[in-house]
Amino acid sequence: MTEAPNPARMTPDPTAGLEGIVAATTRLSHVDGQNGVLILRGKRLEDLAGTISFEGAVRHLWQDLEIAGSDSLSAGFGQARIAAFQVVPLLEQAPPGLAVFERMQLGLAALPETNRPGDAATITGALPVLLAAAHRCAAGLPPLAPDSTLDTATDLLRMLTGVRPPQSHVEALNRYLVTILDHGLNASTFTARVIASTQADLKQAVLGAMGALSGPLHGGAPGPVLDMIDAIGHPDNATGWIGGALARKERLMGFGHRIYRTRDPRADVLKAGLKALGADNPKVQLAERIETAALAALRTAKPDRPLETNVEFYTAVLLDAIGIDRSLFTPLFAAGRTAGWCAHALEQQRTGKLIRPSSRYVGPPAA
Ligand code: ACO
Repeated sequence: MTEAPNPARMTPDPTAGLEGIVAATTRLSHVDGQNGVLILRGKRLEDLAGTISFEGAVRHLWQDLEIAGSDSLSAGFGQARIAAFQVVPLLEQAPPGLAVFERMQLGLAALPETNRPGDAATITGALPVLLAAAHRCAAGLPPLAPDSTLDTATDLLRMLTGVRPPQSHVEALNRYLVTILDHGLNASTFTARVIASTQADLKQAVLGAMGALSGPLHGGAPGPVLDMIDAIGHPDNATGWIGGALARKERLMGFGHRIYRTRDPRADVLKAGLKALGADNPKVQLAERIETAALAALRTAKPDRPLETNVEFYTAVLLDAIGIDRSLFTPLFAAGRTAGWCAHALEQQRTGKLIRPSSRYVGPPAA
């Protein structure tokens, strides 16, 4: 039995997680999973990441959306960071056990109404402040006020540590933030579009998207990637450890993707970032050996299913190399992806169409 059945438009297998279903049109990004290509509003990821700042990439992504102030985003994000610091006392009063991610959600919920397109900048600018303050609150440290004269990456690293970061770390963080800016209709972006389609406030779309991102099958994987690297500990242990995990039917974090049937281009862009960083630390070499062993083991274990390195693997290695604590990996992903979520939410709102699919009833018949 279906709700409002329309057989011509039904998913062949409604249990397949909507795989292959086109649910939106967008000018923002395109994921070509067969060829391993990611296009961000007409440009390949490789031509953006490592060449422009977060602000530059957001300006590029937002250019069709007529978001007020998006041509001077450095200033707009700076002002947004100052405004967001007003809600930081709330984060300090939160229960001690509350995780960084939830503290960020708390701060975001406390921002004033965000129902004008220009509020995309208010929200995107706020997230780095909420992240840094939430981290310091959770660590029992006083939050640090933003410096609106700095760019987002520099100020974020400074607000986390209290120290002006080296330029190499700023460049690596910019590369990361550009790499994860937007990625088609992934689970969190779809969530944002569903919420936006109800004409809800923009921050509600971002709050919901954050919830979707938090799971280990989406944005919650990079912390566990680092746990895996630590657990393996030495290159000689990689093959045995991975074989054991696959025998226990565990998933290797940082491998596999719903869309990519070849290598995730973001993994290569981040790996190149490690080289640019001059990171010759033993953990990077260990990670490369683990990647090789994992790919070989996955090819044997799942010969019919191409399972390649995804963005989360080198996210973990790159962020660790610039001193970001693993508890901040998913929060940082959310802070960067917020620019993409806001853009999709605005794009969806402009269609004026509510997203409302149907379900097939398989419960007992009415008695
Ligand atoms: N390790 C081991 N086996 C895997 C992995 C993996 N990383 N990924 C998929 N498989 C196996 C599954 O067990 C399944 O096997 P089965 O058919 O015998 O049951 C088969 O491959 C297909 O898996 P699905 O879950 O149907 O594939 P899907 O495309 O829906 O999953 C996903 C994509 C969720 C990313 C998956 O590859 C995974 O769990 N990876 C590990 C977690 C991870 O890295 N998440 C971050 C993704 S990137 C991002 O969202 C930003």
